[in-house]
Amino acid sequence: MIKIAPSILAADFTRLETQIREAEASGADWIHVDVMDGQYVPNLTFGPIIVRALRKMTSLPLDVHLMVFEPDHLIPAFIEAGATNITVHIEAIRHIHRTIGLIKQHGANTGITLNPGTSASLLDSMIHEIDLILLMSVNPGFGGQTFIHRTLEKIKTVREMADKTGKYIDIEVDGGVDVNTAPLIVKAGANVLVAGTSIFGQDDISVAIDKLRQSVQGV
Ligand code: DX5
Ligand code: ZN
Repeated sequence: MIKIAPSILAADFTRLETQIREAEASGADWIHVDVMDGQYVPNLTFGPIIVRALRKMTSLPLDVHLMVFEPDHLIPAFIEAGATNITVHIEAIRHIHRTIGLIKQHGANTGITLNPGTSASLLDSMIHEIDLILLMSVNPGFGGQTFIHRTLEKIKTVREMADKTGKYIDIEVDGGVDVNTAPLIVKAGANVLVAGTSIFGQDDISVAIDKLRQSVQGV
């Protein structure tokens, strides 16, 4: 099944709880939380305190995307606050095997994120260890950017790699996902769609989720 993960980066923070509840009632599968440290990416967003607040607003899985250099010291706090999935950027970490072990040890699902400029081959030694692969289809740091079409080839490659492991690994795509790009993304083999602008950036969240889901129906 295709999962839709609205990204709160595009939400109206004066009405966050209302918007989260609307997304949940409209069939969102996960809530995507973009954590930016102002160093690894040129933007600064949320800490564990926001995850703790979100945990009270929804029972949906909280999909925490850490855009943070060497995040080991923060991982326990995010999981304790209620993160369901923690994805880390392989480019931002010296000892990825250790970091993934730390996430597991604290009881969250593990994910590795690759930037548009990072080769899928970097997953070779880790793919058996993780639950989720997050492929960036824009350079991380901001919402509202244009989908990089070359990502579609990487999705195919990573889906083949994932299938060879013999276990089901979620493949999630993040950046520029909308009704035009979503069918291409799903056709290439991804099953989780992160969407900020095309959901929380719209006047009607419910209609936006419906449209996105319809766009991938039968693909
Ligand atoms: C970008 C973030 C994305 C962002 C996507 O660094 O990782 O999750 O919210 O925004 P849209 O859907 O607007 O491209
Ligand atoms: Zn993200």
